[in-house]
Parts: sequence; structure tokens; C-alpha cells
Amino acid sequence: MSTTHEFISPERVVFGQGVAEQLGDCVKALKGKKVFLVTDKVVADLDSFKEVEKSLKKKNIEYHLYTDVDANPTDVQVDRGAELYKKMNSDIIVAVGGGSSIDSAKSIGIIVNNGGSIRDYEEYDTVVNSIPPLIAIPTTAGTGSEVSAWAVVTHTEKNYKMCPGGWKIIPRVALVDPVLSASMPPSVTATTGMDALSHAIEAVCSPYAMPQTDAFAFSAIRLIVKHIGPAVADGCNMEAREGMAMAALEAGLSMNANCGGIHALGHQLSTQYGIQHGVAMGIMMPIVMNFNTIACVDRIVDIAVAMGEKVKGLSKTEAAKKAPAAVIQLQKSLGLPTTLSECKADPKLIPVCAKWALTDPDIPGNPRTLTLKQIEALFKKAFEGKI
Ligand SMILES: [Fe+2]
Repeated sequence: MSTTHEFISPERVVFGQGVAEQLGDCVKALKGKKVFLVTDKVVADLDSFKEVEKSLKKKNIEYHLYTDVDANPTDVQVDRGAELYKKMNSDIIVAVGGGSSIDSAKSIGIIVNNGGSIRDYEEYDTVVNSIPPLIAIPTTAGTGSEVSAWAVVTHTEKNYKMCPGGWKIIPRVALVDPVLSASMPPSVTATTGMDALSHAIEAVCSPYAMPQTDAFAFSAIRLIVKHIGPAVADGCNMEAREGMAMAALEAGLSMNANCGGIHALGHQLSTQYGIQHGVAMGIMMPIVMNFNTIACVDRIVDIAVAMGEKVKGLSKTEAAKKAPAAVIQLQKSLGLPTTLSECKADPKLIPVCAKWALTDPDIPGNPRTLTLKQIEALFKKAFEGKI
């Protein structure tokens, strides 16, 4: 644990079935008059989204719908969104969706109140003026972006992920309504859930871990192991949906300890191969955990215990091996790929992935130093199905 640490969270986190209906009141409480409503085209068509819109209409709140949000949002889209926000004279942002919509909303807010392009803010804590009030309403249970001080945006010219962040970009309010996540198909439930698990595991192993992040991370791990299977098996199982929504929220709060090698390497699989974020994290998770074991063996054993593994009577090293093995077992049980070969990725791109991974903003959050050669070796393992 480092000697100084900072814990950032929204002013209000409202959790429970039906809380999305509070949106109109929430906008009024923040004195918002013209909402810039950010979502993606898929979510915009869902019945649950219409319900969220209704809450604004009921209170006669004007809004402009912005749906130019890709699964991996780009610098061009974000800059364009900021221009439109100003043109519409908006004064508050509402983001409804997965991490891509909430990250886009944060990034649009950065440009609106600070000028320039999102490319000017890729270093952590370089945002001077706070973003306009942002109300985040997640529709997936994974990214935790509704409570995190991070955004991930693709640099389109160089094709890598920028991670603008800092306390000036945190949402003011998070309305976490598990009913909204019930519209997710099983595959998305599984991959977003694995993303949440990766946040919690990275937080536990991080050199920036602190008592608060530990509490949220271990609770999130236990909730995910308990609820992800039932949520994938039956999307209408509201107990499981609630469990996963709470897990994603807690894992998002644990990201105050930063992400590490799983994200630093996993990001490259999305940019180079177009692999979904949660799938990429799931593939890299056991490999990076195993690599990190010599740096934080006790923490990895704690993860194994939180995942329900029996470690009594085992040596620390043997007990630690149970954690990555449990992650692989979980992925297989959910029908997710565990290797890059299964994703039909091209191993020729390993050097490019490794080059960008080495300078990824999440590298400092890894408990063990990573060299270019080691990163290349880890990507190779991801093709071979070894850890
Ligand atoms: Fe993530």
C-alpha cells in the first residue's frame, strides 16, 4: 500500500430497481435546463431507454439526443460531440449506456469546459476545469465508468487508447438501475462481467491499493463469482442482475487503485484485433495474474479465497495458482474464449501490441515491472493457451 492515496467518487450514487425514473428530478436538482443526452444507437432503440427519456419529458426538460458513439469511442466523435453541445446551448450531460457512452460523455465534457481536442488531455489529471454536471446511468454491469474518474478514447491517427482522467471528470450522480441491464444478451452479460472482475483483481494487486479499494474489490469479486452464471443463464433473474450491477459499481470504485497490466495489454487486443474489451480482459487476466504472483503472492491467494477456492494446507505458491485457474474455469463455464487463437487474431501483430502496451497509461498500476520482451512473451502465451 502506498503512503498517500486518493479516493474519488460521485456526490450521489443511487442504486435500485426503478431509480432511472428519478432522472428528471435529478436534472432539476442540478439546475439543468438543456440536457445533452449521450447514448449509442443500440441503446437508443431499447424500450428501457424510452422509459429514461420519459422521465425527462414528464418534467418538461429539453434535451438533445447524441448517438454518435462507437463501441470504442474515438477522438473525432468526442470532439464533434463537444461542438454540438455548445451549438445546442446545453448545460448538463446525461449518459445512458455502457462504458463507451459514459466515457464519451466525460470526454465531451472535458472539451466543453477546457477547449482544444481530447488528444490534449491524454495524461492523467491534466484537465483544469471540471466538466459540466454529468448524470451517468449504466445499462451494462461491467465498466463501472458511472463511478470512475477515467475515460477511454481511441486516438484514430495512431490507433491506441488514450485514458484521460482525474477528479475533474467524475460524474456528479450515478443512477444505477439493475432493471436496465436486464436487456443485455447473455454474451454481453458475460463479457462485461469479466471486465468488472478484471477491475477488482487489478485493484487488489495494485501498488496504489488502499483500505477502501480493497473493501470494494473483494466484495465485487465475491458478488461476480456468485451472480455472473445465473445472470448469463437467465437475464430476467433480477437477484443476479442486482448482484452484478452492485459488483460492477463496487469494482468501478475500486479502480481508485488504478488498473494495471491486464488492461495495459488487453487494450491493445481491442485496438489491433477489434476484440471486445471484456473478452480481451478475460484472456489476459489469468496470464497477467500468474506473471504478477511473485510481486504480490499474498494478494493473489486472497483473490483465490474470495473466488471460493480451498487453499487450506497448500503452500502460498500452490494456493496462488488457484486464482488464475479459477478465472479460466469461470470463462469456460460462460462459453467465453480463453485464447487469442480462438479469436482468430494474427500473431504477427504481437510486436505492435507489445510496443503500445509498454507505454499504456495503466502500466504504472501493475505490481511487477514489465519489459518489452516480457510483454511479448505474455501475448505469445495468450495465443498458446498457457499462463
Ligand atoms: Fe475495463
